[in-house]
This record gives sequence, C-alpha cells and structure tokens, in this order.
Amino acid sequence: MIRKYTFGQPMDTDAVVQALPPETEPLPYFTLTRPGQGICLSLALSPDEVLFGLGESVRGMNKRGFRYRSWNSDVFNHTESTESLYASHNFLVFFSPSRLLGLYLDDPGPVTWDLGYTRSDTAVITSEFGDLNVYLLEEDSLAALARSFRRLTGRSYLPPRWAFGYIQSRWGYASEQEVRTVVREHRERHIPLDAVCLDIDYMVDFKNFTWKPDAFPDLPAFSRDMKKEHLRLVPIIDAGIRTEEGYAPYESGRAGGFFCRKEDGSDFTAAVWPGMCAFPDFLREDARIWFGDLYRPLLEAGIEGFWNDMNEPALFYTDENVQKAFRRVREMQDGFVDYEQMWFLKDAFSSIANNMDDYRSIFHRPDGQPVRHDRVHNLYGAFMTRASADGFRRFDPDRRILLFSRSSFIGAHRNGGVWQGDNFSWWSHLKMALQMLPNLNLCGFLYTGCDLGGFGCNVTEDLLERFLQLGVFTPLMRNHSALHTREQEIYRFSSWETMRDTVSVRYALLPFLYSEFMKAALTDSMYFRPLAFDYPADSRAVRTEDQLMLGEGCMIAPVLEQNAAGRYVYLPEDMLMIRFRSALDYDLVPLDRGDRWISLRLNEFPLFVKKNHPVLLCAGGESSELLDDRRFTAVCRMDRDAAYGLYRDDGFDPRPVLEDRLTRVTLPADTARNAGGVAISELLL
Ligand code: GLC
Repeated sequence: MIRKYTFGQPMDTDAVVQALPPETEPLPYFTLTRPGQGICLSLALSPDEVLFGLGESVRGMNKRGFRYRSWNSDVFNHTESTESLYASHNFLVFFSPSRLLGLYLDDPGPVTWDLGYTRSDTAVITSEFGDLNVYLLEEDSLAALARSFRRLTGRSYLPPRWAFGYIQSRWGYASEQEVRTVVREHRERHIPLDAVCLDIDYMVDFKNFTWKPDAFPDLPAFSRDMKKEHLRLVPIIDAGIRTEEGYAPYESGRAGGFFCRKEDGSDFTAAVWPGMCAFPDFLREDARIWFGDLYRPLLEAGIEGFWNDMNEPALFYTDENVQKAFRRVREMQDGFVDYEQMWFLKDAFSSIANNMDDYRSIFHRPDGQPVRHDRVHNLYGAFMTRASADGFRRFDPDRRILLFSRSSFIGAHRNGGVWQGDNFSWWSHLKMALQMLPNLNLCGFLYTGCDLGGFGCNVTEDLLERFLQLGVFTPLMRNHSALHTREQEIYRFSSWETMRDTVSVRYALLPFLYSEFMKAALTDSMYFRPLAFDYPADSRAVRTEDQLMLGEGCMIAPVLEQNAAGRYVYLPEDMLMIRFRSALDYDLVPLDRGDRWISLRLNEFPLFVKKNHPVLLCAGGESSELLDDRRFTAVCRMDRDAAYGLYRDDGFDPRPVLEDRLTRVTLPADTARNAGGVAISELLL
C-alpha cells in the first residue's frame, strides 16, 4: 500500500510514475513540526531497528547512526564524514521485528536525514524548503516494499548487453593512437574487453560535442574499426557548455535562450573543465530537446554509449566569487596579524568551488516562471540524464544506448545508470562500494559500479585484483583512474595474468549475470540486496554488512582487506561455494549454514549459491559479442529438481517482454549423484 501526502507546493520532479491522490488524513507514525519554511518528520526508533536506503551515500548498508544530507555535490574526498555525495536518493526503509515502513520524500531541494545522530533513538528528517510529496509504503516483506517503490517510480533502465563487458577507462587518453595501444595490449594478452571510455581529453578544449581533429581525426572510422574488434567507444559529456563565440552548441543554446539565468536575466556562467561555461536549463523541455539532439553527430559516428559528468552541477568558480575573494585579501593585507586571519584568508579561496551563493544566484524557468536553483538543485543531473536518454530514443527508438551519470535523483533510474564517483585507491573504498550497491538498487539504480582500482591515489596490485573480484559481479565493470595517478590498466602489472583470469570469470558468467540483471529489472526487483531481504528473521543476516545477495539465488562475499588470506563468511543457509581462479578453474564446495572461514588466496574469490539454484557458466571469450550463449556448464548443489529461467535477447531490444525471452532449464534431482549433492551438467540451449 502506498499513501501520498502533499506539503506546500511541490513541483513535478519526474520521479514518480504512479498518479496517486493525496491523503486528506494527517501523516501517520511521524511527528510533524515546521521549523521556518521547512518540514520536519520525527520517528522514534526501536533499539533493533535497521534502516536501509539513501542510495548513493557513505557508510554502511544500515544507514542508522549518522546524518546525511541530500545535496548533490562534486566531492572528491569520500570519507566517513561526508554527508553528501553526487546524488540524492530520498528513500528509506525502517525495518524491525515490529515495523516495516518505507518513506520516500519526493523533494528536489535539500533534505537532512538525521538517523540516530542527534539522538540515537530518533530519526529526524528535514525538508529545508517544505515543498514536497511524502510517500509512505507498507508491504509485508522487504522485497515487496522494494517492488512497490519501483512500481511507484518506474522500471529501471536497461543498458545494452555489451555494457556488461569489461570497460577500460582513464582520464588522460589523449589520442586515437593511445586508445588503440590500450586495446592492443588487452587483445594481445587475451584480456577480455568490450569498451574504452574517452574522458575529456578527446574534446577540443574540453568542449562538449567536439573531438580533436589532430588526435582523433576520424571518429566515425575509429569507432567502426573498434566495432570490428568487438569493442565500443564511450565518450564523456559534461554539463557545462563553454561560452565561446562561434562554438555551435553555445551559439544555438544562446539563440534558443536555453541556459540558466541570473536574477537580472543574463546567462549564469561559471568555470568547469572547459573554462567559463553556461549551463543548460535541463528543467525546460525545449532545452532538453535541444541538448539531447546535440548528441546526434556522435550517435551518427557510431557511438553507442556515453557517461555524463559534472552534472551536480560542479562549479569550479564564478567571476563574482573570485573577485570577492581578491577583495577580501586586499582588505586584509595591511591588517594581517594572526593565524585566525590566516584561516580566513585560506577560506576566501577554498570556499570558491561549488559555492552556495553561486547556486542561489542561478535561476531555472521550467514553465516560464523563474525558480531559484537551490530549491531544485538535486534535479539537475537527473534532468540532464533525461535530456540525453530522450535524445537517444528520438535518434533510434529501437536500440538501447549505454548511459551512466555521476549525478542523479530518483526517476533518473529509468533513463540511465550511475557510477559511484571519484573514489580512491583505498581498501576502505572497496568496502564502501560494496555497501552502496544494495542501497542504490533499492532506489532503482541497478546498472551501477565503482571505479575499479580507485579513481584518485595510486593503486597497488593486490587492491586492483580485489577490486576486480568485486567488479566481476557489478553490472558496470569499469577500471577508471585519474590523471597523474599510477596507471592501472591490467597489463601494467606483473600479475596481469591473474587479473585477466579474474575478468575471464566475468565473461564466463556474463550471460548468467545479464539474465539475473534483466530479470531483476523486468520484475521490479533488486539485483543486489542486503541479506536481510532474504533472511529477515535471521538477526545475524540482518546485520551483515560485508556480503550481498545477488539475483535469485546467489551471494557474494569479497575480500576487503589487504594481505588477507581469506575471510569469514556468514552462511544463512546451506550453500554451494564456487571458488573461482579463472573461468575454467574453480572449486565447488558444499558448505553448511553458519560462520565459515574461507581461505582465498589473492587470485581466488567466491560466489555462494543457494541449494537448487543452478549457476550457468559459458566458455567465456574476449568480448561479450563473442560468447557462445547456447552452451553452458550448469553447477548446482541440489536435493530436488532444480529449475532456472535463462533470460536471453539480442542485447539491444528496448522493450523486451520477460516471458518471451526465458529459456527454462530443469536439472532433475538425480543429476547430482555425488555425496555432496553437487551437480555439474553440460547444457545446450
Ligand atoms: C570528474 C569525474 C571523473 C573524470 C574527471 C575528468 O572528476 O568524476 O570520472 O575522469 O572528472 O573528466
């Protein structure tokens, strides 16, 4: 059951697809107060209450015990104290033996989630502007609640199948030659690869929708060549459009009046990578159409995937704020006396990026009327995603195009995926990535993953290996790193063969993982879940923070610590462990319920599978296009007939019907003849 409560004058955020009449009764369960113009909802938490949700945010799967703020931020340093990341996903589930309740705030402005921070026994959720729709969801299980939320907000985005291949990326690939070298190094070593991302270096002066004529002389031909090698190019597009006379996107945007304005009606400008930029007013439909059509030359050049970036939007500085900082410094120069002034001086410049005064000076005109940006800030990235996805659909309604974005808001999950932003090459960030995954799924973002190896800082060989072992299971499996950090393509390392073998497991599992993903998307369920969703009555499972359920019957438990020779895994029921070393080299170990020490050398990683759930492995290959998805080895621990529905399609169909695409497989109970009840069966489907 879903109930809707309206406060103030909410705008249409495009987050919800189900039209519900607002309730006339007051909001139950929560105590409502109105601080200033805001709305504050409080709820007493029982000691055993667990909170899931808030999508992309730091800390654990269980969000209890910290204060988060929904305010999409370009934030480079993700620590335990980081209250805001790039996205605002305002959905939270309260779960205890006596309560199961979903709370969704459809609010485009800032929202604070004090979840047992000020008082450990109370959740206090504050909408700062108070114009919002609140939805209460009540179902009889966590899984049903997740499904009901997805029905409210719409079906998750379906990427093309090739987007489940391994993707290599790095900020700094400056020419076609360099990209070709990266591809060659992979292909020569038989490291599977499906795509290479082009970061801002492919553009002329970092200007969107341009490519450097000297370094990328013939992008269509380059893209064609790559496709012959079963690879695709995935260029980046940033939110800002450089304000340069004669630059076509700027000229057409200005002529159409499609940019965000200042209060005086002039275009708002701020610096990002290309220098001074104007910012498309994505809240306007005509601006979205204009922007979505700008992708056309790239689509015509054969590009089938994009990543949208800097769309919080990130603002490095505005001229006004730089001038203000200089004025401050000049004023202080003569009277400079002590360390307090020193801090003040430092702040004058360090507070210039992503400055609140700048955000307050931006205006949108969704319906002709000006709306101040800070009231709707969290929609910006989502509406850029919408502009892009609509543009792709106009270009070719019959083909799925890859799109993942840095900034997002619930609703954007229908149009694209997200990557988890600028993480570091830290072990703690490996764990953070794992913990973020189920909450992103709960909020609808199924196509997601982190920068494998870490974006900032220098990766170590073992850390990259362990990141890849998590990446084998994440829908987006992309190795990405920042300029000036240690190069982290697999082939740079002495243990590249081990890493190649890890990626080969992804390819052996790809048809199966794709099937699990598509079934999750098409049935409005979750690809990754906290263990609580499958074992709500098992208090150990409910509190497990470093393992995830995957698809219908699997569980992952990656090694998250340096120099570990294994880890403890909690098995909530009897399972089969597949301990992988490569696509062809793995152990099948039946394990009974309980805590188990699993030894895992650096080249080993496990997948756990519930009984009577077959896992299908194909022979693998070097590109998703080269996989034989008819011949499989099914492995299964079983004590009765075991059935599986394998989802297959052409990888591009944008409107697939689940039932039409399922091939049903049954392993009869007597397939497993050995003592452990483990079957290995060759299938031709
Ligand atoms: C941002 C993105 C990162 C990208 C860089 C340069 O930091 O998050 O992925 O590499 O910009 O475009």
